[in-house]
Amino acid sequence: MPDRFPQDFLWGAATAAYQIEGSPLADGAGPSIWHRFAHTPGRMANGDTGDIACDHYHRWKEDVALMRDLGLNAYRFSISWSRILPEGTGSVNQKGLDFYRRLIEALREAGIAPSATLYHWDLPAVLDDRGGWLNRDSAAWFGDYAEVCFKALGDQVEMWATLNEPWVIAEGGYLQGTLAPGHSNLFEAPRVAHHLLLAHATAVEAFRTHGPGKIGIVVNIEPKHPASDSPEDLAATARADAAMNRHYLDPLFFGRYPEELAEIYGQAWPHFPEADLDRIPIPFDWLGLNYYTRAVVQTCPAAWPTGAIKVHQPRSTYTETHWEVYPQGLTETLHWLAGRYGPIPLYVTENGAAFYDPPTAEGGKVDDPLRVEYLREHLRAVGKAIDAGVDVRGYFAWSLFDNLEWSLGYAKRFGIVHVDFATLERTVKASGRFYAGVVRAGGKGL
Ligand code: FCB
Repeated sequence: MPDRFPQDFLWGAATAAYQIEGSPLADGAGPSIWHRFAHTPGRMANGDTGDIACDHYHRWKEDVALMRDLGLNAYRFSISWSRILPEGTGSVNQKGLDFYRRLIEALREAGIAPSATLYHWDLPAVLDDRGGWLNRDSAAWFGDYAEVCFKALGDQVEMWATLNEPWVIAEGGYLQGTLAPGHSNLFEAPRVAHHLLLAHATAVEAFRTHGPGKIGIVVNIEPKHPASDSPEDLAATARADAAMNRHYLDPLFFGRYPEELAEIYGQAWPHFPEADLDRIPIPFDWLGLNYYTRAVVQTCPAAWPTGAIKVHQPRSTYTETHWEVYPQGLTETLHWLAGRYGPIPLYVTENGAAFYDPPTAEGGKVDDPLRVEYLREHLRAVGKAIDAGVDVRGYFAWSLFDNLEWSLGYAKRFGIVHVDFATLERTVKASGRFYAGVVRAGGKGL
């Protein structure tokens, strides 16, 4: 087996604040849109909330020790904006910053590189009262918040991300309404998307003044494959690809939106100022890819708003979130990113699968062969891209822990470490032991 993974490859795992921390209002923090959403009846599976989650807010020391035992050399987490700025803007809550500072210092002492994401979906609720991402001022609010973080933590964190998955923020939060803040409005979604891009650019501008370190953005990409060669399916596939995969990356790299978007959104597609499209493609240092699945796409005029649906693949394995397991799509996507948008260092910032695990780890063990297989095949897929010369610099398993899978609640388990939500006990799953072995071997023998 060739020594394909570079020596300084980052072998990590990822989490997000609202999904693991718990204690969302502790030590002066303000509520976020997720706190509100989760406390709105009917929004969350099983009525689950992030009030306790994995209690990482109190157990972070134990959690860092666990990562060290797994041999990870990197950890991707997110910072909760409303812990740092309870009013969204203005006065800084030192206790919020202290929490992340302690975590980051402990990580570094354990030889684990911290990778901080500034926004993983938990907008301060007070900013939502002012229109949230619909308000053009959101870009400046985000820039100010980012600057507070860079100044307070920038000496300890080398790898920063502005936004996690802008597509999901706009699609889930403002178009389909399945995620906070739960709007469903065709006219809002493209504006929100645009403001997110401006927010990213504003944070990168601030970073260039306050550096050091590297900054990037994290997108989720699903390769879109046509279900047939019919012109209708091909057109639907192009629309699905534009809506999800190119809506953010084309403006970020080329300063223009894909032309299919005007067709998809019709009269809801705004006229954006040219000056914005000059600002958005400010260069950044790395690109994060969250990869889970692909989509085989068929035309369906009734499907709102893209006129495209995903077709089930009867011969494939599906995860508990109904995502097709399709590891070759990860190699394909890494090639696509490098070819269309490169050269830029790439990181797989999330990859993993929800498969059923029992709520309690019987006999202190959790055997999760399907997740082991998923990880093995996807790690191999990364290796193949590296063999072919794609500049991939790290891989983060989603997720370190079973956690609150947003509106799907705690039942969808993605962790390589099992969490018993009755006792909060952590148990490394077979997949966690498998991944630790891969890390120890530096990816050799995969
Ligand atoms: C991604 C999110 C992450 C998690 C995984 C399963 O879209 O970034 O928080 O929910 O999906």
